[in-house]
Amino acid sequence: MNSSDFADRTAIVTGAGSGIGEACALMLAERGANVVVADVNGDAAKVVADKLGTPTLSVVVDVSDPTSCQNMVDVAVREFGGVDVAVNNAGIAGEQVPTAEVTVDGWRKVISVNLDGVFYCMKSELPALVERGAGVIVNMASILGSVGFQNAAAYVSAKHGVVGLTQAAALEYAASGVRVVAVGPGFIDTPLLAAAPAEVLAGLSSLHPLGRLGTSEEVAELVGFLASDRASNITGSYHLVDGGYVAR
Ligand SMILES: NC(=O)c1ccc[n+]([C@@H]2O[C@H](COP(=O)([O-])OP(=O)(O)OC[C@H]3O[C@@H](n4cnc5c(N)ncnc54)[C@H](O)[C@@H]3O)[C@@H](O)[C@H]2O)c1
Repeated sequence: MNSSDFADRTAIVTGAGSGIGEACALMLAERGANVVVADVNGDAAKVVADKLGTPTLSVVVDVSDPTSCQNMVDVAVREFGGVDVAVNNAGIAGEQVPTAEVTVDGWRKVISVNLDGVFYCMKSELPALVERGAGVIVNMASILGSVGFQNAAAYVSAKHGVVGLTQAAALEYAASGVRVVAVGPGFIDTPLLAAAPAEVLAGLSSLHPLGRLGTSEEVAELVGFLASDRASNITGSYHLVDGGYVAR
């Protein structure tokens, strides 16, 4: 870790009001970035922004709304002069039922936040990064971007889509100096899993060879590396931080 990896850089983190996004925002600020703490929950975003030591601002964004995503990027450019790093992390869990029982509304909701949302963010972020002639996008996928899971059809589909979107954009923007990567966390101890009963959490833990859920900080550590110049030869790739889950 280098405490000045992101000095004089501006980073946007979506879904930064909680869990993995909050940990990424804290990590980026500790390493010198100006951070745009973006979340649909404006109060949560403000609480996180107030914890950060570097210049920060909180922005209300609904990533399922392309106009809202453009506004988030416009605010970052206006207040901090540009964007260098974007962590597209906002996501929701959705209905937990077999595929035939997923409601159309439930399907659309998960796809609109977890897949369309990443696309809308990238659509607004990429021109700002190209303008800089350099930059990194880190998309928050999941282990479920490469393997299936029962009762999570929309979530699994969206996360597989995020991995493909990452690869496509990486090819398109490499020549512009922009790297695009995806991160695949295993099950992580965050509010996203808060509704799960203790026995379900114990069962999820046992699916990871390391025998536990991961932490948001462990995910942020990987994001910090990938978003830094130390990862200068890495683009278009999908990086697991999963306690061995996918190796089983
Ligand atoms: N927790 C896990 O086990 C796990 C595992 C793999 C991947 N992930 C992914 O990591 C990301 C973060 O998950 P988390 O566990 O920290 O969840 P979390 O629920 O703790 O935080 C998600 C944040 O996203 C925000 N958000 C939700 N909808 C939004 C929208 N439309 N626009 C903007 N912000 C929105 C929420 O307000 C919340 O602050 C998600 O993409 C999730 O799919 C989580």
